[in-house]
Amino acid sequence: MRVLLIAGGWSDEREVSLSGARGIENALFALGHEVILFDPTDRLTELPDAARNVDFAFLNLHGAPGEDGLVQALLDRVGCPYQGAAPAGSFLALHKAAAKALFVDAGLRTPAWEFLTAPPPEGWEPSIGYPLYVKPNLGGSSVGMGRADDRAQLDAVLALAFRHGHEVLVEEALAGEEVTVAVLGGEALPPILIRPKRGEFFDYASKYEQGGAEEICPAPISRELTEETAVMAKAAHEVLGLQGYSRSDFMVKDGVPYLLEVNTLPGMTPTSLLPQSAAAAGLDFPALVARLIELGLR
Ligand code: DAL
Ligand code: MG
Repeated sequence: MRVLLIAGGWSDEREVSLSGARGIENALFALGHEVILFDPTDRLTELPDAARNVDFAFLNLHGAPGEDGLVQALLDRVGCPYQGAAPAGSFLALHKAAAKALFVDAGLRTPAWEFLTAPPPEGWEPSIGYPLYVKPNLGGSSVGMGRADDRAQLDAVLALAFRHGHEVLVEEALAGEEVTVAVLGGEALPPILIRPKRGEFFDYASKYEQGGAEEICPAPISRELTEETAVMAKAAHEVLGLQGYSRSDFMVKDGVPYLLEVNTLPGMTPTSLLPQSAAAAGLDFPALVARLIELGLR
């Protein structure tokens, strides 16, 4: 097949996207496909023409624009198949506040939050207590994310988050451990337990530096917790109306999992989580790429 590998883009996660694309390109070659690279930066309007000349588009864009459904909508219009979620589900999942509203509506536990659409006035107090996390609502990879343990730390982390977008999520920081569960073709893959080696949370450096975090797969957690996070990851996938695959991130406090967010184009870099989880399920990287294509062609 002729495959358009769409990567790069102009979100804060551009480098993550390009890093993952190198491995995907190799896997596509190994699978016998012809690869045409397409970076939508400065060329978004050329995408319909480029997509008409291929059999499939493999998306490796993260954050907005890219993971927000825009590129998916353009591909739908010209009838080019791609892996993963359609436009509406992509946008709902990327919009952390909207996704959390749907999780609550569906009875899926998620940490308390407040959604801000402008920097709050001086002296503002969030309705949720400390400690809390402050994140760009449409971001990923923890770019622009910070933690405030008390009021004195809040202004700086709010300012940081608002430098990365007009929408900001303030979220209860639960003391616990992070677990992630991918759904592939309707089945949950083995969970991963994440222990950042330094710093207080799974930040950008712990995500992408080799050895930045201890990531244990399958996670050494109880059978009940494995089952509960699998059920929740599949439910979240359904609630958001996703296709093909997704990766749900959880914070587990006192054995109880809280859903943080769902990623519709999970990272594919050498240190990323989905490839590790797929490997634990017997799918090496080219096999994962092949499976994503197969699901996308359905
Ligand atoms: N947003 C990054 C790429 C991830 O979820 O893996
Ligand atoms: Mg994310």
